[in-house]
Amino acid sequence: MSINLYSKLPLLFFVVVLSTFSAKATDYKDIAPILIANCTSCHHTGSIGFPLTLYSEVVPMGMAIKNAIQTNHMPPWPADPTYKHYVKERVLSVADKALLTDWIDNGMTAGDTTLAPPLPVYAATQLYGTPDLILDLPKFVSTAIADDHYYCMNIPSGLLQDRYIRAFEFVPGNAPIIHHAVITIDTTGLAVDDFSGGCFNQQGQVGIGDYAPGMGPTVLPGVAPTKFGFRLKAGSKLSIQIHVPEGTNGLKDSSQLRLYFYPVGEPNVRNVF
Ligand code: HEC
Repeated sequence: MSINLYSKLPLLFFVVVLSTFSAKATDYKDIAPILIANCTSCHHTGSIGFPLTLYSEVVPMGMAIKNAIQTNHMPPWPADPTYKHYVKERVLSVADKALLTDWIDNGMTAGDTTLAPPLPVYAATQLYGTPDLILDLPKFVSTAIADDHYYCMNIPSGLLQDRYIRAFEFVPGNAPIIHHAVITIDTTGLAVDDFSGGCFNQQGQVGIGDYAPGMGPTVLPGVAPTKFGFRLKAGSKLSIQIHVPEGTNGLKDSSQLRLYFYPVGEPNVRNVF
């Protein structure tokens, strides 16, 4: 027994030295890909979070980053991935979390920062291809002083025939004031705008989704047997409720809804309710 233990000691020692060495050898070029894959979509200039796109931006946030990833506050993903998985899940892998934590604990070595991969190009809209229908929402000025306000607006689709929506993207005009938007279809075409600030009901009859900061476009699965679409009947309106936070009084917004349809006559599209 004791002979066995002694014979393994040098090996144990070697493993410990190696792992300490590899943690210290990590520098920014190894960390940047983790940030690009998990963080910079929200944390870049012009998006909803402060930028984490350069070594000089990441370093002052080191302790905050460590805390945010250890507590699973970032990347934001309230669902429990040990229970159930979702499409477009935002979860840092155990390995990436360890690497990032080690790098922070070991003094955030710069190394040759020019070896870090380039940042992706972040466009104002994320879906490729020209939308089939672009609806400009009415311009409005927030009246929210001491409490949150809700506005309802309805935009005629102008369609003369029924179409199936396969994807849509809500593009906020003034992103910092849009808490969220709820998007529905008013199949009656009768809904009327309500800019009183207290429009709590959603005026459409068919809900197709939401927009919230950091959320990407909605793209339905498009291959049978899950070739899904939202039917947009001729003559209907897109009915949108926008929530703005208190303290935004006087600030303007003009957002946009971009719709992508299946081709006319596309077979076997399943209407999603
Ligand atoms: C979906 C968008 C989104 C993603 C992805 C995201 N963040 Fe954030 N992050 C935010 C927003 C918005 C805030 C500001 C609000 C807040 O403090 O909760 C924030 C705040 C933070 C803060 C401030 C402290 C704190 O805990 O609030 C840190 C640090 C941070 N993020 C680090 C990260 C890191 C590291 C990643 C990647 C592993 C990441 N974030 C991914 C949106 C995002």
